[in-house]
Amino acid sequence: MSMISKKEQAKQKISQNIHLFKCVICNSPMTMDDHQLTCSNNHRFDLAKQGYLNLAPQAKKSNYSKELFQARQQLCQTGFYQELIDKLVEALPSPSIRILDAGTGEGSHLYQLAEKRKFQDHTVGVDLAKEGIQVAASGYAEPIWIVSDLANLPFQNNSFDVILNILSPSNYQSFLNVLTEDGLFVKVVPGANYLKELRDQLYEGTDKEEYTNQQVVTHFKKYFHLKDRIKIETSEHVSEENFKHLVQMTPLTANHSVEQLEYRSPVTLELEVLVGERM
Ligand SMILES: C[S@@+](CC[C@H](N)C(=O)[O-])C[C@H]1O[C@@H](n2cnc3c(N)ncnc32)[C@H](O)[C@@H]1O
Ligand SMILES: [Zn+2]
Repeated sequence: MSMISKKEQAKQKISQNIHLFKCVICNSPMTMDDHQLTCSNNHRFDLAKQGYLNLAPQAKKSNYSKELFQARQQLCQTGFYQELIDKLVEALPSPSIRILDAGTGEGSHLYQLAEKRKFQDHTVGVDLAKEGIQVAASGYAEPIWIVSDLANLPFQNNSFDVILNILSPSNYQSFLNVLTEDGLFVKVVPGANYLKELRDQLYEGTDKEEYTNQQVVTHFKKYFHLKDRIKIETSEHVSEENFKHLVQMTPLTANHSVEQLEYRSPVTLELEVLVGERM
């Protein structure tokens, strides 16, 4: 166990990167005083003892529970998304860069990627779900974890060399603001057969049975030049428990209960990594 607390570690990491931050209320620069992020107009945000910042205190409770993010973290720690992590690492520039994971959830993808790059980058994970950020911060000390809305990011313009956006909604205008001039935007979207074993059971006979990411790709191209498109297709064994975890954290199952689904393994992981540059 590390001798210094999570809160103290977070304070150090944020202090080192304080120039990246701006106030979400008045846009002024921030300083780290004691254990508070403070702006010149005296807006103050406390560091939580688990080592994260809440910069969207007015956010509504998310649809996802803490248990669900914990379950997701366990699944990720079995290496379920390893192929994705490897492909992302290959797609990124050499280390010592600033990486933002926008919609990080419980943070495993960002942590695993940072670990593979030997923690040489400055990494920040943001998500609107406080429950997700809490699970991220209790699992991993390394990235900076922040509760934040993609529509009101707490960062100065040109702050990040890479923005990751994995299976999460995008806010293109915000991303363009905080990305550097020659930065990369890396978005991960489902392929047609992503979690086919769930999809088949949920949508049989409906118009959702066939999924295509075409609309998402078209929208992406309005904001970024699509430099590269990397396909991932694997089949992963999951335990019955992890199958449930997977079912719970996918928007696919919003109107269904886990009990309605029959356990199937292996599960198809078909994803696409869209790599974009400014136009
Ligand atoms: C399907 S999860 C993916 C999480 C993670 N990237 C992963 O792959 O495990 C989508 C995430 O987007 C987050 N999200 C949705 N709208 C958001 C917003 N406006 N700002 C920040 N995060 C948001 C949700 O809270 C959720 O954690
Ligand atoms: Zn302020």
